[in-house]
Amino acid sequence: MIDLFEKLLKNRGPLGMHSKESYGYFMFPRLEGPISNKMIFRGKEKLVWSLNNYLGLANHPEVRKTDAEAAAEFGFALPMGARMMSGNSNHHEQLERDLAAFENKPASILLNFGYQGMVSAIDCLVDRHDVIVYDSESHACIIDGVRLHMGKRFVFPHNDVTNLEKQLERATKLVNVTGGAILVITEGVFGMSGDQGKLREIVALKKKFSFRLFVDDAHGFGTMGKTEPEQEKNKVFKMKLIFILEHLPNRWH
Ligand SMILES: Cc1ncc(COP(=O)(O)O)c(C=O)c1O
Repeated sequence: MIDLFEKLLKNRGPLGMHSKESYGYFMFPRLEGPISNKMIFRGKEKLVWSLNNYLGLANHPEVRKTDAEAAAEFGFALPMGARMMSGNSNHHEQLERDLAAFENKPASILLNFGYQGMVSAIDCLVDRHDVIVYDSESHACIIDGVRLHMGKRFVFPHNDVTNLEKQLERATKLVNVTGGAILVITEGVFGMSGDQGKLREIVALKKKFSFRLFVDDAHGFGTMGKTEPEQEKNKVFKMKLIFILEHLPNRWH
């Protein structure tokens, strides 16, 4: 029988096998300088496409000032403990109320980061009698949330609403037996390709099937605009951006 560590040394997996050559380049690249769309990489200024700073707020003077004031007033250790046990504060609750108002929703809940948010929310919503139907290009946090699910899951090819309908037919037959319900999961704007989820078409399927729709809008929140003309304009912009990304000259790869 092979020792676990020996096995890992022999076969480091699809990413691990390249880790030595790619460390500091594709994996763990070291970016220096202020957070921006241009940062120093390996001593040269480069365009940065991979930060989560979509709204450009990370280095916004007002945000930095508030950060500094909050650190001076409360320190970084406050509140102490998991929020459910001892770490809750009136500031968390106020922020939740503000976010709900911004989104025009009755309530919101803050989680430490998006990955945990999706995994936890999926796990909370479904039990083993329910069926999840999800887009094949869903972000890793959705896939991991779905993997935790004890019931059945059906995947539909990316943005293929005709196939989604087939999966909903299968799911409906199944929940009629288990007594469960159906959760459909997709994204508002897909992170890797930048294309939009077909939310309108998916919602239209509610006339025919009974399901709840869960949208991860990590890339759409704050970027797409509230009104339809704004959304259309941003859609065009995003498509242009993707076109540029797909046609990068070789030296940028
Ligand atoms: C669609 C989507 N959901 C969730 C996440 C996870 O967010 P976080 O990096 O805050 O864990 C990401 C991260 O890029 C994402 O693209």
